[in-house]
Amino acid sequence: MKAVVFHGPRELAVETVSDPKIEAPLDAVIRITTANICGSDLHPYEGRADLEDGMVLGHENMGIVEEVGSAVGRIKVGDRVSVPFNLACGTCRNCNDGFTSACLRANPSGDPGAGYGYPKMGPLWGGQAELLRVPWADFNLLELPEGTEHESDYTMLSDIFPTGYHGTELAHVAPGKSVVIFGAGPVGLMAAHSAMIRGAAQVFVVDKESDRLAMATGFGATAVDFSKVDPAEFVMDATKGFGADCGVEAVGFQAHDASGEEHPEMVLDNLVKTVRATGHIGVVGVYVPQDPGAPTEPAKQGRVEFDYGTAFEKGISIASGQCPVKKYNRELRDLIIHDRATPSFIVSHEVQLDEAVEAYRKFDAREDGYTKVLLHPGTAPITSHS
Ligand SMILES: NC(=O)c1ccc[n+]([C@@H]2O[C@H](COP(=O)([O-])OP(=O)(O)OC[C@H]3O[C@@H](n4cnc5c(N)ncnc54)[C@H](O)[C@@H]3O)[C@@H](O)[C@H]2O)c1
Ligand SMILES: [Zn+2]
Ligand SMILES: [Zn+2]
Repeated sequence: MKAVVFHGPRELAVETVSDPKIEAPLDAVIRITTANICGSDLHPYEGRADLEDGMVLGHENMGIVEEVGSAVGRIKVGDRVSVPFNLACGTCRNCNDGFTSACLRANPSGDPGAGYGYPKMGPLWGGQAELLRVPWADFNLLELPEGTEHESDYTMLSDIFPTGYHGTELAHVAPGKSVVIFGAGPVGLMAAHSAMIRGAAQVFVVDKESDRLAMATGFGATAVDFSKVDPAEFVMDATKGFGADCGVEAVGFQAHDASGEEHPEMVLDNLVKTVRATGHIGVVGVYVPQDPGAPTEPAKQGRVEFDYGTAFEKGISIASGQCPVKKYNRELRDLIIHDRATPSFIVSHEVQLDEAVEAYRKFDAREDGYTKVLLHPGTAPITSHS
């Protein structure tokens, strides 16, 4: 099959590799119709997270079931399915508690949490390819309505829509609340979309990329351009000095100032300033325990020096971590089916798998308009976006 193969930072190739096969009775093989490029894929791409040479990339996958193992019962050949980016066994203690993001059995390293084509998430290949092997298929796969309708909405169910929603869940977003979201990348925009669905009264979205901020204003959020105003002052003024009830961190360890210089503590500090006393912050932006490319010695060891003292004094609750996709994807799918959610609004480009290397380059350069790129390995319909 053809696949996007990682050979080192900024060295990708679309190559022919061996087809994945059923290896265990609970496996399925999926023929990918859409695989997205994610902001997280840029961590190995930029050399900020180690990934082995030869790994097939891609953890945001959907497609049609091509083949199932002998013990698969619920999922059938021909089903249209979304593949959560967390790979989970379904039977360990954490899976039983709903934390598929911390499965204790799926990662051969023994660390909690596994996935596809991603650093430290185990050896399984990703889905930026024609085919993908999915272990424990009955547990992991989410069925979608058959056909091709809503392809670019459903493709957000594997990661960023649930992840954005998870940010709002951790931040306790509820009807009438005010919410400040840092980051207007795909995850931040999905958090803003989720906050609107959950009935927030005021939603602020902070970034400096005007095309991304314009999407946030498009559905009624207030855009805050941190290259033009101090975002903390802006939110405090707009909430009459009270602060926002809820905060979402959708930026991660490469948070930077308007000049592009990295300050890993910067967004956490701004959240502590802008979230009201006893409010909640959900951190879904990724922070890492080792980051040799970090700007300071402590940050190289994962030590991010933000203002915890003020966070404590204000009694702010901070929750973080990888999203357990299965906790949300079924309900989010049904919001799409009933036209209450349209996460496809962030899609900027849809290209064939052969064009993946160039798409990565442009996405990494934040070239104008490259917000979310969908790859189509097969013959799925391609919609044009301007
Ligand atoms: N927790 C999870 O399960 C999970 C899942 C998917 C992605 N993520 C992570 O979520 C984060 C966001 O993902 P994405 O795909 O949207 O990434 P992205 O890189 O496309 O978006 C990040 C945005 O943050 C903005 N930004 C940078 N510094 C900022 C600052 N100081 N203030 C405000 N905005 C700032 C950037 O301009 C950019 O638009 C990444 O860290 C990604 O790895 C986490
Ligand atoms: Zn992702
Ligand atoms: Zn498990």
